[in-house]
Amino acid sequence: MSKVTTLSEFIMAKQADFPFATGELSRLLNDIAVASKIVSRDVRKAGLVDHILGAQGDVNVQGEEQQKLDVVADNQFIKAFEYGGEVCGIASEENDDFVAFTSEISKNGKYVVLFDPLDGSSNIDVNVSIGTIFSIYHRVSEVGTEATLEDMLQKGQEQIAAGYVLYGSSTMLVYTSGRGVNGFTLDPSIGEFCLSHPNMKMPETGRLYAMNEGNINICEKGVQDYIAYCQSYENDKGAPYSGRYIGSLVADFHRNMIKGGIYIYPGTNSAPEGRLRLLYECNPLAFIAEQAGGLATTGRERILNIEPHRLHQRVPLFIGSKQMVEKAMSLLH
Ligand code: AHG
Ligand code: MN
Ligand code: MN
Repeated sequence: MSKVTTLSEFIMAKQADFPFATGELSRLLNDIAVASKIVSRDVRKAGLVDHILGAQGDVNVQGEEQQKLDVVADNQFIKAFEYGGEVCGIASEENDDFVAFTSEISKNGKYVVLFDPLDGSSNIDVNVSIGTIFSIYHRVSEVGTEATLEDMLQKGQEQIAAGYVLYGSSTMLVYTSGRGVNGFTLDPSIGEFCLSHPNMKMPETGRLYAMNEGNINICEKGVQDYIAYCQSYENDKGAPYSGRYIGSLVADFHRNMIKGGIYIYPGTNSAPEGRLRLLYECNPLAFIAEQAGGLATTGRERILNIEPHRLHQRVPLFIGSKQMVEKAMSLLH
């Protein structure tokens, strides 16, 4: 039997790749791992404990009804970042504005984190996979001061690290710090994330497509043409692809990472920018996709090149296996 590598061991070993590393990013990644274990524990109790399942009774800045677990997870991650000491401020889906931490230790933190604490929250009450997505940047403001909006509004290509946690049939943490992508599965019996998917690569092509096809009639013609291509016998595989749509971006993305496929959330007549948020959904997954050999675009522009203007900015997303995203882009005008 070979020795298990835990996430903490892996992070420590990787730190040696960066000669000037001070260990702060390693500690931050460990803080995220601890917070996600706590959220995972809460998710696993969702049907049993009243304060976890159901609606919170509030609506977030994007007009979506908050679920109790959205708020539980948001608080858990914020606490981890506020008391960890490496982070000077955060932005999350559940907070209208970014939060600048005010303690002296936090003001000396070098990093900011942008995150979606609970992705796929409409799936919580029906026992379907959900996730967390995070994105880490170096601050651009001066160390020792409070975080600013400028720290939050950086292009995706500036990300230092990004990852997601999938609360699926098992809990997995997948992350990149710009040198490939590695996946860890939580072994609940020892409470550790263990390296289970080293050096993940997204297949160059696949036969799975994921889109909310309820929107197909309000999408641009190029998207309709691509979906027709997926369903045709005249496509590159000579047979229709399979449609798979979970409705949790993390879960749909993770499946495509492993099996090969494309995920599309295009603009529609009613929402020209689509639904997904650039800073804490599209950018982190785009970084991971590219690190795994895949692609992520709006259909016209590389996600990681977009200059953000607002915290909760939305963009269309085409993400997944390289050849499939390229084909979809070739049909857009
Ligand atoms: P969130 O739960 O964080 O608001 O994100 C939901 C997102 C994403 O996970 C999913 O792919 C998409 O919204 C589903 O949207 P539709 O219901 O419009 O398909
Ligand atoms: Mn989300
Ligand atoms: Mn969310």
